[in-house]
Amino acid sequence: MNVIFVGPPGAGKGTQATRLARCLGIPHVGSGDLLRAVRAQDTPLGHEAKEYMDTGRLVPDDLTIRIVEARLARPDAVNGVILDGFPRSLPQAERLDASLGRGKTTWPDAVVYIKASRDVVIERMAGRWICQQCGSVYHIPAVAPSAIGRCDVCGAPLVQRSDETPAIQAVRYDVYEHDTLPLIDYYQQRGVLVEIDGEQGVDAVTGDISAAIEEKRGARPVASGSGSQR
Ligand code: AP5
Repeated sequence: MNVIFVGPPGAGKGTQATRLARCLGIPHVGSGDLLRAVRAQDTPLGHEAKEYMDTGRLVPDDLTIRIVEARLARPDAVNGVILDGFPRSLPQAERLDASLGRGKTTWPDAVVYIKASRDVVIERMAGRWICQQCGSVYHIPAVAPSAIGRCDVCGAPLVQRSDETPAIQAVRYDVYEHDTLPLIDYYQQRGVLVEIDGEQGVDAVTGDISAAIEEKRGARPVASGSGSQR
């Protein structure tokens, strides 16, 4: 099964994509996670990715598409993937159709649109804490760890992302409205869009996604949990 998660920054795409991937037994491929790994390298590509990500802009398509396609070519993606944050522009969607969707009558199986207002997502990004070591994601106070500042899963310190300043969050939201929002119509016209109210609590959102995916494919219910491990 191939599922794409779309929505504004901080809407909960990563949180929910992690849960659905675990439930369906297929990989969770987050373009932001892939690009952060590239950005961490002291290479020309890493420097290029950093320049865009640290200012809230989209990394150019040629670099992003190359990295995502390399990940999708790995053997574990053969039975499907949960794509989180990719595509996030019409050119990326068309490129994905031409590669992963080639020859398929139904592609993708579902596009989960997690809808949330600007105010809600700005608050969520401001409260997000991430484990430095295992990548588990928390929110204070909505998805709080048991011990302040420490990951429940591995005990490592929690940190905030470098693109979480109010100014960069505002740019990321504007970029979303300009470049990514057109994807909603694009996938709605294909009959694969599922709109989810992302302003509910985490487990309620998971429940709605689970029901929608079950309806599409007869998938198992999605298990709930505390911090979302990525
Ligand atoms: P990326 O890492 O993809 O960031 P994003 O799309 O902006 O999304 P986020 O990761 O910020 O949020 P999310 O929706 O996953 O929310 P989360 O589950 O963490 O991209 C970063 C950058 O990389 C981009 O700016 C761009 O530069 C580049 N990039 C990435 N993909 C690209 C592409 N395809 N093309 C070009 N450039 C690209 O939740 C947020 C917080 O809320 C967490 O603390 C969580 O615990 C909490 N939370 C989640 N759900 C709930 C809930 N229901 N109630 C309360 N709290 C909740």
